[in-house]
Amino acid sequence: MKAVKIKDILQNGSINTPCSIKGWVRTFRANRFIALNDGSTIDNLQCVIDFENIDESLLKQITTSAALHLEGSLVKSQGSEQKVELQVETISLLGASDPEQYPIQPKKHSLEFLREKAHLRIRTATFSSIMRVRSALAFAVHEFFNEEGFFYINTPIITGSDAEGAGEMFHVSTLDPKNPPLTESGDLDYKSDFFGKETNLTVSGQLEAEAYALGLGDVYTFGPTFRAENSNTTRHLAEFWMIEPEMAFYDLNDNMNLAEKFIVSVLKKVLTRCEKDLLFLDERFINEEKNKPQLERSPMGLIEKIKFVVENNFKRVSYSEAFEILRNSKPNKKKKFQFPITEWGVDLQSEHERFLVEKHFKCPVILFDYPASIKAFYMRRNDDEKTVRAMDILFPGIGEIVGGSQREERLEVLEKRIKEMGIDEKELWWYMDLRRFGSVPHSGFGLGFERLVQFTTGMNNIRDVIPFPRTPQNASF
Ligand code: 4AD
Ligand code: MG
Repeated sequence: MKAVKIKDILQNGSINTPCSIKGWVRTFRANRFIALNDGSTIDNLQCVIDFENIDESLLKQITTSAALHLEGSLVKSQGSEQKVELQVETISLLGASDPEQYPIQPKKHSLEFLREKAHLRIRTATFSSIMRVRSALAFAVHEFFNEEGFFYINTPIITGSDAEGAGEMFHVSTLDPKNPPLTESGDLDYKSDFFGKETNLTVSGQLEAEAYALGLGDVYTFGPTFRAENSNTTRHLAEFWMIEPEMAFYDLNDNMNLAEKFIVSVLKKVLTRCEKDLLFLDERFINEEKNKPQLERSPMGLIEKIKFVVENNFKRVSYSEAFEILRNSKPNKKKKFQFPITEWGVDLQSEHERFLVEKHFKCPVILFDYPASIKAFYMRRNDDEKTVRAMDILFPGIGEIVGGSQREERLEVLEKRIKEMGIDEKELWWYMDLRRFGSVPHSGFGLGFERLVQFTTGMNNIRDVIPFPRTPQNASF
């Protein structure tokens, strides 16, 4: 008999049919009731052993986390918790598990403890829910762009251009660190390295995506991205996944419209497709919030927060307007910000972003037209010569979730900016070519996938929404 998924049994299983399932024991009570989970759903299937001559040694091996193959028939459940249960007829032990050694007990463990057991934490209700939601979000991302007529492209992970300036990079090299070849001036001789030049792990697929947009029209990448920033925060990873659409003929307004439509679309889909997991995470979120000081508590539950984002327009505000709001705000006047808002042109810190979103506007905010001096070289300059056509989307509890812009399509303006910023133009020859041959206005943005998963699952720490997080001093597993 082919094993079926517990999710299917709970949804469509009919009484008195033979049934075969495989999964892991969550709990075993009274030598009779096994709660089996196979990862397909948050729910366990209650399996009842009702025969006398069960082998003693087999019975002893039915322990939390042991893997079993059970066959029997589905019957109406006696208990009130579930509609059906499995009346077990045969048990085979697929993989035993020593209960003394198994680190995850059927009790509440701290998230910090579970991070050290990242290979086993997926067997808990919390992590399996998070990862099912993550998977559903990823699917909804592809679905959205496919429906909008975008092409999915894969940009290189090893990159030879060091121009994006989005963060510190990880070097990729096969040179012998103990005995590296040196040039006459004593620098590393990359000519004898694998690629014959200096290479790094990519911080963004944008520049290559631009090349493809200017041929395919609308494209997106969804891939791993690497930043060697030494920032140990709850919102930064050294390896994270980014979704980067890039659209020919789009201006900044089109770009903002698409970003908002995109986020709302994937959240809506997940609300209906992950109902059970979200209900569970909602309850968890509300309990966690209770432990926070009143002022820091989220005014909404998790599902309520997601629905709020889906149902309300994002507030669009220019940097200059936001600057005035912040400058005149209570925390600024009372010197409560760690970074005071004094002069136009300062970069906004996460404390400012969160003030705008959580205290002032109380909804997602799109900030646009940032000072050129704090943004990347490729953003389109406005006529005021001071600001660029940039936009960041800020979310409650998260801060920046999206960064994007209209791109500078004018060759001379771009060349001037590259010089001003001291960027090596040689590396960007191909990028400049895009402005030489059929350049058009175009725009794009990047959404940090883990930050989206954080928002959707209500997890406070980004390390808990990716299977095996990479952060400073941590690359276990
Ligand atoms: O704002 P960023 O640096 O933008 C870019 O990289 C552009 N090239 C995107 C584009 O226009 N195609 O990064 C985009 C998003 C941020 O808003 C944030 O959500 C996420 O990527 N992000 C990180 N997520 C986790 N860990 C990190 N260290 C992150 N750095 C950025
Ligand atoms: Mg950014």
